[in-house]
Amino acid sequence: MTAKLILGTEIREEILEEITREVAEIKAKHNQVPGLVTILVGENPASISYVTLKIKTAHRVGFKEIQDTQPLDIGEADLLALIDKYNKDDSIHGILVQLPLPKHIDEKKVLNAINPDKDVDGFHPVNVGRLMIGGGEVKFPPCTPAGIQEMIVRAGVETKGAEVVVVGRSNIVGKPIANMMLQKGRGANSTVTIVHTGTKDLATHCKRADILIVAAGVPDLVKPEWIKPGACVIDVGVNRVGEKVSEKTGKKVAILKGDVDFEAAKEIAGSITPVPGGVGPMTITMLMKNTLKSLKFRLGIA
Ligand code: GUN
Repeated sequence: MTAKLILGTEIREEILEEITREVAEIKAKHNQVPGLVTILVGENPASISYVTLKIKTAHRVGFKEIQDTQPLDIGEADLLALIDKYNKDDSIHGILVQLPLPKHIDEKKVLNAINPDKDVDGFHPVNVGRLMIGGGEVKFPPCTPAGIQEMIVRAGVETKGAEVVVVGRSNIVGKPIANMMLQKGRGANSTVTIVHTGTKDLATHCKRADILIVAAGVPDLVKPEWIKPGACVIDVGVNRVGEKVSEKTGKKVAILKGDVDFEAAKEIAGSITPVPGGVGPMTITMLMKNTLKSLKFRLGIA
């Protein structure tokens, strides 16, 4: 059997179309559009490419978008003052500070300075707490976990009562997705296990999973014999394992590999996300969804 592919590249298009339509409706009715600012400090090439794509996507769906690039040597106080300016700007509904920040800046202090009601990344402790409480308390689920949950729902995978095993306990993916899958409600209500580097027998836990979510950052960590036949496998890993020359552009590009041995796993799983083209495209998509939601909260229509 070959697994059904869950393609982030396709689901992204559906969601961006939905967002574009909703933005146009809100603009017609309320004369407002979502405003997103991305703050980039320095010239880290990976960060530049992420921010460029975020801004391009925001533009595509009809948002007001600002890319605010600051020099690498900006002082912490100046960065905090900049965040304060956007906190007070009523035309801005989402503030994103691209990570990582240079070493002389306290990342925690900066993230905590963002108004939680504009924290569309969902990284502020207030939003982490809201996510933990669940239900109507949740404002901005972090983007990668929100994308994972959306993919599972749109792939038609039953989550209620499902055994979900999450490999990895990061604050950005492992802990929040585990928390989201155990809440009551749509795309959740699952029995959740988190496994990590301290777990004694990874394989035994993974073999029980109806839904296996892997965010470990270790290429090919999950072996095909760890997968329950018919399971849904979500591979969050993006590991650079080498370089190749792109046939399209003739330029050098990274060879990417997930945390799951995809070629073997797809013969056993019921559904599976590829790398690239799986979870990756969903993160920016959910950032757009959170920014739209932020405006809707402001207008009292969320
Ligand atoms: N750097 C890499 N991924 C992310 C992300 O999702 N949000 C922010 N703010 N920075 C990042």
